[in-house]
Amino acid sequence: MLHVKEYFFKSNFLCEILTLFIDTNKCILSMHRKDEDSDILIRWAQRWSISKTGWQKSDPHHFLIKHGNDIIPGLIPSSDSGAGSCDSELLDADNHGAKRVFFPLCGKTVDMKFLAENKAIKEVVGVDGIQKALKEFAEENPSLNIKEVDQIGSSFEKFVGNNVSLLKGNYFDIDEEVTGGRFDVIVDRASIVAIDPSLRDDYVSILGKLIKPGGSILLITIDRRAGTDEARSAGPPFSIDDTEIQRLYGSLDWVESLTKLSEHNEFETEEDKKRWTMQGVDSLFELCYVIKAKKLRSSM
Ligand SMILES: C[S@@+](CC[C@H](N)C(=O)[O-])C[C@H]1O[C@@H](n2cnc3c(N)ncnc32)[C@H](O)[C@@H]1O
Repeated sequence: MLHVKEYFFKSNFLCEILTLFIDTNKCILSMHRKDEDSDILIRWAQRWSISKTGWQKSDPHHFLIKHGNDIIPGLIPSSDSGAGSCDSELLDADNHGAKRVFFPLCGKTVDMKFLAENKAIKEVVGVDGIQKALKEFAEENPSLNIKEVDQIGSSFEKFVGNNVSLLKGNYFDIDEEVTGGRFDVIVDRASIVAIDPSLRDDYVSILGKLIKPGGSILLITIDRRAGTDEARSAGPPFSIDDTEIQRLYGSLDWVESLTKLSEHNEFETEEDKKRWTMQGVDSLFELCYVIKAKKLRSSM
């Protein structure tokens, strides 16, 4: 086993390639790994290489805090219970009842650390195709002690820390064997909106194979509700409205229920309003849903 820093150093030295590309008429010199050159990942490799990660939050997502108890009852403690705790009656002395959580297209979201440190969570597993995202997550969260490196088959590398496993590879190649089993909970924030709209059905089909019977998906999307046609269909993030969510999840044989929990107007601050209107978007909402999987499934 290589320690994570050694691994990243070696892989940078051996595998990274120098790529010259044109971005908005500027020449940018970018370093990324050869396996990140695929059509599906190259754009993300370029973004990460110049730290163009405007979606990244410094605190756990407000919808995760607000609706955490809709996916795992007791996950978010009452304010006097303290950080990292949960309502103790959920777990026995050996933490039986603790949940496995999956983050598709995880980036370096702090939501993974937030959940990995919660007593209600047994393991957080994230997948991202870009090495720099996972490297930065490991470096920025030293308390998680992410250090072991493993290869899973020919397509994935695995980094392991305290209650957290990170898989580096293409989401569309993932299966239950790679993730080490199914999940009680899946958190999709800015993930389905990150992929090309033509891939959405495949994306959802994979989630359907990874969720346990009776499990829950917390889904956070954005809806470019008004603006020019060009701006509304631009992305990533690609707009997904209620109708599309209904089309994607509403009639699947493994879905028990699809419930909209909240929507948040992204035009609350003048700064956000200015940023989006400059891009031709006149109304933007962040939407939050919970999708419950059937406890008994006919076709698995
Ligand atoms: C908009 S970011 C969202 C990250 C995270 N969900 C969050 O809330 O911060 C999308 C992430 O998906 C990753 N990604 C895009 N396509 C992917 C693919 N096919 N397989 C694995 N990761 C992918 C990108 O590298 C990027 O980190």
